Parts: sequence; C-alpha cells; structure tokens
Amino acid sequence: MGKQTFYITRAIDYPNGRPHCGHAYEFVLADAIARWHRLAGEDVHFLCGLDEHGQKLERSAKAAGKEPQAFVDEQTSFFTEAAKALNVSYSDFIRTSESRHVTIVQDLFEELQKQGDIYLGTYQGKYCTGCEAFFTDKDLVEGKCPVHKRELETVKEESYFFKLAKYQDQLTKHITSHPDFILPKKKRDEILNHIKEGLHDISVSRTSVGWGIPVRSNPKHTIYVWIDALPNYITALGGPKGKLFKKYWPADVHIVGKDIARFHAVIWPALLFALNLELPKSVYTHGFINFGGEKLSKSTGVHADPLEIVDKYGSDAFRYYVLREIPAGEDGDFTEENLVTRANGDLADGIGNLLNRVSTLVHSHFASKIPKPSTFQAVDNDLIAQSAITNDVDTLMRKYEWHKAVEKVWDFIRYCNRYLSFTTPWKHTEDKERLATVLYSLVESLRIIA
Ligand code: MSP
Repeated sequence: MGKQTFYITRAIDYPNGRPHCGHAYEFVLADAIARWHRLAGEDVHFLCGLDEHGQKLERSAKAAGKEPQAFVDEQTSFFTEAAKALNVSYSDFIRTSESRHVTIVQDLFEELQKQGDIYLGTYQGKYCTGCEAFFTDKDLVEGKCPVHKRELETVKEESYFFKLAKYQDQLTKHITSHPDFILPKKKRDEILNHIKEGLHDISVSRTSVGWGIPVRSNPKHTIYVWIDALPNYITALGGPKGKLFKKYWPADVHIVGKDIARFHAVIWPALLFALNLELPKSVYTHGFINFGGEKLSKSTGVHADPLEIVDKYGSDAFRYYVLREIPAGEDGDFTEENLVTRANGDLADGIGNLLNRVSTLVHSHFASKIPKPSTFQAVDNDLIAQSAITNDVDTLMRKYEWHKAVEKVWDFIRYCNRYLSFTTPWKHTEDKERLATVLYSLVESLRIIA
C-alpha cells in the first residue's frame, strides 16, 4: 500500500500588489500544517498560487502601463520570493493564466452549460472591484462595500448564471452530516445561517471584463473570476482526468481567510456537486492579521511587507510569532514590538538558552558527540513521559488548533528547564554515566521540541 496522502491548499493570491503580511500569515499556517503531515510520514501535496484574472488585475495593469499578461508575469516573482523567504515548502504553484488551468476551466464550464447547470440571462447588480464580487442591498453598510467601505458600481449586462439555488438542500445536508467540512465550528454555523436565508443563482460571466478566460462557445463573455479561481484546486492536479487528481483528490483541507469562506463553503461545493466530483474534506477559515487594527490589503492602503520583517528578524521569528500569537480562527493584531518580545523571550531566552546550556555541556564533556545514556532514574523517566505531548500536538494540529499545539510544546520546554535545574548536570561532571544520561535525555527532548 502507498503512503497516506494529504492534499492541502491555500487561497491563490491576487497579484495586483506586493504580498503583505496577511498573505504571509496564510503561507505560514498552511506550511506548518503541510510540514506536520510530512513529518508524520504522509505523502503531502501542498498547493499555492496566483489568481491572475479579473477587473482588479486589468485595472492594476493599466495603471502600471502594462498589458495584463506582462503585468502578472512580473508580479509573480514577488509572491514566489516571499514564499521562499518564509521557507514555504509548497509542492506546486499554479497561476490561473497558465494554459494547464485555462483549458480545464473552459472544459468544466462547457460541461456545466451542456448539462443545464449554467444558462444565459441578464444581470444587474452592485459590484465591488476590490472584492471582485456582487453585493445585495442587505450586505451593504451605509450603502457601501462592507469590506472596502467605498461606493459600488452598478453593473447591468448579459451574463451566464450557475444554478446555485438548485444545490441548497444537498449542501445543507452535506454540511450537517459532515461536522468537519466547515471549520472552525462558528464559521459552520454562520454559513448554515446564510444558506438558510436562501441561495440564488449566481452570475458566472462578464462581458465587460476582457482579462479573463473566454467562454469557448461565446467568447465575448469571460468567466467570472471566482469560477475561474476556485477550480485551481483541481486544475493543478490535471483536472478530473489527471493522474494527480486520482491520487490526491479530494483535498484534505483548503486553508482560506474569513472573507472568502462563502466562496469556498457554498459556491465551490455546489460546483463540485454539479460536476459530480467529491467535496474537499475540510474548508478551514482563519482570521485576519490586522495592522494597528486596520485590515491589510492593497485596496485598503494598509501594507506591511513580510520581506522587510524576514530580512530584519529571520523567517523563524515571523513564523513562530504568527503561530503562537494569533489563536487559530481568530483575528490578531500584528506589531513589530510583540514580534521582538516573542523572539527574545521565547526563542532566545526560552529554547535558545536551553539549547545552549545543553550543547555547551555536550561539547565540553563528550567531544560534541551525543552521549549514550546509562540507567534512567525516576526523574528521567518523568521527562520521557512528558515527551508524549507529541500525541497531543498531533491531535491539535489535525484539528487545525496550531496555537494550542505550540502551547503544548511550551509546557514541555518549561518541564525541560525544570528538569535541568533539578538534575544540575553541570555539578555532576565527575559522574560521567549520570551526566551522559541527563544530557542524552535533554538532547532527545530538544529534538522532540524542534
Ligand atoms: N484571489 C482570492 C482567493 C481565491 S482562492 C480560490 C483572494 N486573494 S487575496 O490576495 O485577496 O487573498 C488571499 C488570501 O489571503 C485569502 O485567503 C485572504 O483571506 C487572505 N488574507 C488577505 N488579507 C489578510 C489578512 N490581513 N490576514 C490574514 N489573511 C488575509 O481572496
């Protein structure tokens, strides 16, 4: 039998600006989960990428005086470089302007047209180019976009529609019978309430946006950017007929931010039902990193450059900080000051100090070789028993509760420090056997902590 597979994706970013700390946050979360499963011996496929079509990109390219394709080609390296600097171990990086994506999206659209799940009609609605989404009046705040707080454009045009309403009952049934489909639980309740209010068919094409994937049978229409973007999770596997698809689909988890939960927990599963494909096992929605309380994004004008932070403090400090500081599924405020406090207090004084004390003793008394232990005493066995926290960490990581997992590791680090103070190996340098046992136990503990 082959290894157990684990397919994890994160949202594909809009490359209309530079990557910000919100993107970096999601890169790190998804990467930490991917690495955990890899460590457990699973065959992990980890997908990242870019969402390159749509009006927002078209406008950004124009503002930069470039053709859209040339513009997104140039923007790509900012995202791949950020991922590299953050030490993100993705297996594949998909760009939605690549032909491997375009052809399959056109095939899927055609299939849905043929079976009647996509039909032609007229759309009139209020559209936010920041969100690349239409809003109904009840979603608006003081008549403006609830996210970007700006006026919306009224758009009227011929459009293809997807029969979303048809899948309302099937979707409700799926969500209620699969408690892990939408995580965390509070998101699930929110989505169920939204569905209960009634789903409507959605517009899935534009005649006013040139920069997109053309509908094959009617190319004056381009496919709505979300219907183009969501299938990236399967086009990257070669589509429903692909070899990788057979191996990795359904995805174990889509990691996405709270602003795009509905697209992933309502529209995407409905599309998959229509295509007769399995649904992902989980859609995990994380919270937002705010910067001084303001949302980070190109369109809100608040920016924090992850590359600057990584240059200054290193990727581990950033990765540790976001995993430790922001509770899974909640929002958190990012401040450089807190990052420094965490890096100094936890990484340098906490783990760093333990590591230094232990390695100094190993260097000076065992010529830098890890010594073989002799008889374990009760205090050593207690330490070994504590190292069973890896089981708790595993359970928490599989429930996407990473900050609690980090807390568990900290319980163990504190225990190691107590063990060190209790056993005082630096006072027993004459008794080589005892010294070897204590240092071996600590080195092994450090391996587990790492
Ligand atoms: N292109 C769409 C996603 C399509 S997925 C099929 C998109 N792009 S985005 O660039 O705006 O956002 C990419 C991801 O980053 C999303 O999951 C989004 O929620 C997340 N974040 C954007 N700003 C964020 C924060 N300030 N904090 C945390 N994550 C945030 O949406």
